[in-house]
Amino acid sequence: METKNKKFYITTPIYYPSGKWHIGTCYTTIICDAIARYKRMQGYDVFYLTGTDEHGQKILKVSQEAGVPVKEYIDGVVNELKRLWKILDISYDKFIRTTDKEHEEAVAKIFEKLYKQGDIYKSSYEGWYCTPCESFWTKSQLVDGKCPDCGREVQLTQEESYFFKMSKYQDRIIKLIQDNPDFLQPQTRQNEMINNFLKPGLQDLCVSRTSFDWGIKVPFDPKHVVYVWIDALTNYITALGYGSDNDELFKKFWPADIHMVGKEIVRFHSIIWPAILMALGLEMPKKVYGHGWLLFGEDKMSKSKGNIVDPFILTDRYGVDALRYYLLREVSFGQDGSYTNETFLKRINSDLCNDLGNLVSRVTAMVTQYFNGVIPSSQEKEAIDEELIELNNTLRDKVDQCMDSLHIPEALENIWRVIQRANKYIDETTPWILAKDESKRARLASVMYNLCESIRIISIFLQPYLTKTPEKIFAKLGIQDESLKTLDSAKFGKMEAGLKVEKGDALFQRLDMNKEIEAMNKIAEEEKAKALKENKKATEDNVVKIPEIGIDEFEKIQLKVGKVIECQKVEKADKLLCSKVDLGEGKLRTIVSGIAKYYSPEEMVGKQVVVVANLKPVKLRGILSEGMLLCASDKDGNLSLVSPITTMPAGSEIR
Ligand code: MSP
Repeated sequence: METKNKKFYITTPIYYPSGKWHIGTCYTTIICDAIARYKRMQGYDVFYLTGTDEHGQKILKVSQEAGVPVKEYIDGVVNELKRLWKILDISYDKFIRTTDKEHEEAVAKIFEKLYKQGDIYKSSYEGWYCTPCESFWTKSQLVDGKCPDCGREVQLTQEESYFFKMSKYQDRIIKLIQDNPDFLQPQTRQNEMINNFLKPGLQDLCVSRTSFDWGIKVPFDPKHVVYVWIDALTNYITALGYGSDNDELFKKFWPADIHMVGKEIVRFHSIIWPAILMALGLEMPKKVYGHGWLLFGEDKMSKSKGNIVDPFILTDRYGVDALRYYLLREVSFGQDGSYTNETFLKRINSDLCNDLGNLVSRVTAMVTQYFNGVIPSSQEKEAIDEELIELNNTLRDKVDQCMDSLHIPEALENIWRVIQRANKYIDETTPWILAKDESKRARLASVMYNLCESIRIISIFLQPYLTKTPEKIFAKLGIQDESLKTLDSAKFGKMEAGLKVEKGDALFQRLDMNKEIEAMNKIAEEEKAKALKENKKATEDNVVKIPEIGIDEFEKIQLKVGKVIECQKVEKADKLLCSKVDLGEGKLRTIVSGIAKYYSPEEMVGKQVVVVANLKPVKLRGILSEGMLLCASDKDGNLSLVSPITTMPAGSEIR
């Protein structure tokens, strides 16, 4: 195959550094790693990108809850993620962080360019705002009409925002998906996107926020930060230097060959990302592939559900290759798959230990016993040999085809067919009987050579999927010459006789299923107990863990005594009261508060209250609220207004 100057660019999504990693999060990365490794073996110049998606309100909140400055918090999580990728032998070429200076600068430039050319415009965003969480939610994100994070009431609120003109690109995106069946795979995702999102009509997309500041500042309007899409998706081009002084990699590798993503983010990659690229006048990625989820029973693995399976523990106990093999082989690619301890252990015992491990140990033992450990040469061929040789020689085409069409478990199935055939070949040729008959010496030599050569070829093909075992097998066969480990050398007969075999330890230990399942359940129990303890401690720590502030920070908050002069209910908002409050400023302030459940408008009038006077005004239900009334809140969220014990003049400072 002519692969000179051929490039291949593959990406994983960038991960939120918000929690504990589970084997579901390893799935995309291991899949991409196997593809990248295979492409490298095929002679492609490969660029494999992964990284972390570090901005936004959620991560800011998590770090605040942990009582650690946000960047410091993320650095810790990112280090842990990189440690995991190292354990799993992920061969990425670049790890991008959206807090990298180069990325931040390029995003600011991209945003400005889109604004200048009219693809981004300023308007206002309406969403459901949870005041305690300071979070905006869309209607569909609410749970029973309440904040999905804290379960409290939310208010329909407006915020000034920049918008990206997605609607303008709708027809071009439909055409992109319909005219290029390869662009979005598997095919079911095409229908989903077209019928559920594109045909009903695309809305322009809110791409900035003013309600938090952990993000990339909009260069020409710095009270806004770039919100999610233009920051996260553009990592695929900024990682290659797009928008910087050095865009050599971009020129070389863009467009991406594959954006591998989980099914829940297909929409962002097959609709929003193409629209951004169209606006930038850039080429479309060649393929977006939306794989399924790894489930635990019926549920998606997630930290909040407590059903995660810890990759650190699994790899420590069973080895990296066991986990890589399981994830690549067990889940029908493109669909959801369920993890169970039983299926995981069975794969180790049957495929790795019985099929592969046994083949290697039987053959190396026989070469040691019958030929003093030296691989003999093949001296004659029988029909049964031809069949084995043919299976080895056609493996390249089969695996190439599976990998090109992203049928990854099927690639492994084809390799296993050769492993199983070789095991059967041993049973059929019965070398232990041949060994008893001196006149069958040539036949025995040929059988041994054929088996060793099959094992070499199998190991070549195993390299993208298992990262430790193939090297161990090459060492057992005495193969040091790197050229005997390449795809080009995967032709039967390339290995010369005479190499010295080393039987050594078994590749995989056979596991006692019952004992292992018991041990795994025990570990799960211990982990659960540990997590519970940590959660409890985190809750206790939170009481004291809210970071200390200096007096200078406290002085930034202007608290004043106010007197409520008028008060009324806010129309169509059961929880809200709108008060006119005298702060001794010559004009009354309008303040909207969520206290209607606790106070009637009549009893509010005349009350002395404490007001956060320098709070940025915000529109609540179309009313500009110019401050906040302070309340005490108990653990059930019941509120009581704070008021000075004795009457004070309106506008008195609180210090
Ligand atoms: N930050 C966004 C992606 C932005 S890309 C421009 C994100 N991050 S994530 O951390 O939530 O997910 C990263 C990847 O892990 C996604 O592809 C997601 O589908 C995948 N998985 C997370 N849990 C998973 C399973 N249980 N099973 C399979 N993949 C899963 O989304």
